[in-house]
Amino acid sequence: MIKVEGVTKRYARFTAVDNVSFEVGKGQIVGFLGPNGAGKTTTMRILTCFLPPSEGKASVAGFDVLEQPMEVKRRIGYLPETPPLYPDMEVGEYLDFVGKLKGLRGNDLAKRISETSDKVNIGDVRNKLIAKLSKGYRQRVGIAQALLHNPDVLILDEPTSGLDPKQILETRDLIKGLAGDHTIILSTHILPEVESTCERVVIISKGKLVATDTVDNLTNRMRGSENVGVEVESVEGTLDTKAVQRRLEQVSGVSKVVLREEKNNRANFEVESLQGRSIRADLARAVVEGGFALTELKAAGMSLEDVFLQLTSADQPESDKSEKGESA
Ligand SMILES: Nc1ncnc2c1ncn2[C@@H]1O[C@H](COP(=O)(O)OP(=O)(O)O)[C@@H](O)[C@H]1O
Ligand SMILES: [Mg+2]
Repeated sequence: MIKVEGVTKRYARFTAVDNVSFEVGKGQIVGFLGPNGAGKTTTMRILTCFLPPSEGKASVAGFDVLEQPMEVKRRIGYLPETPPLYPDMEVGEYLDFVGKLKGLRGNDLAKRISETSDKVNIGDVRNKLIAKLSKGYRQRVGIAQALLHNPDVLILDEPTSGLDPKQILETRDLIKGLAGDHTIILSTHILPEVESTCERVVIISKGKLVATDTVDNLTNRMRGSENVGVEVESVEGTLDTKAVQRRLEQVSGVSKVVLREEKNNRANFEVESLQGRSIRADLARAVVEGGFALTELKAAGMSLEDVFLQLTSADQPESDKSEKGESA
């Protein structure tokens, strides 16, 4: 549905996007992940025909962004970083205005406004001034304007930035609900955003593609095995260290348990997980259900954030490596 082939964008002598290629299949929801300044917005503006690429090709539903921009725009709904809202318009009035810009008229327009308002849940604020809406509602109105002409593709630039945690969850759910009917690319500089919303991820840093993979593969690859330090005490009497060790070894996802230290009825273990397995909660349960006291549980491994930083600060793009493991 979306194809980006060797796209480069230069602003004067500065290269903001450097030979980036990726594809997005129909109905997929893809996270475009990268730190600030990575080139996400620039790439999105190229896909939405607001900026021409300096080199390379991009197409949407088979239509080239340079050669057939009208066809592309017809199929794309775009939510820019700052939603294009008019604060002194009422929500209904604004959607009517945007719909007319998109060429909708009469019954068609009324029907689309009401369908879209239902979908993004803004029916109750139709007669409210946009200026008086909360940021979460404003973002939903922004998504509504992108959805109004029922485009195949939605391009959402940092759709949850600046929202509070509750609004973030609501917006994520809304976006997830739109996938399937629509092909979606959303950009973000926050890793959990991608994990919770997207099936696939395209990572860029300093204009270059760093990795593209399914979220599951990437999470596993980046998470690696987890090392957890576990400290256990006896509730009363002598600690049966061997019994504790056996319990820990039986937890699903555990590959190795090493006793590090033992004194005064207290023992310290280092537990290693299998690749990509999260074991901490189960370890805690195993200890407590065994009738022992859990006095400490700490992660000794790398966090996803650490590995992401490593990926995006590496000099060599990892795209070759990751694309081999791609299952999409
Ligand atoms: N119009 C412009 N002129 C010059 N440089 C720009 C322009 N727009 C963006 N840039 C630069 O291009 C780089 C990528 O920007 P952008 O695509 O906005 O990144 P992101 O959205 O990932 O934060 C940044 O270093 C930014 O300063
Ligand atoms: Mg941006």
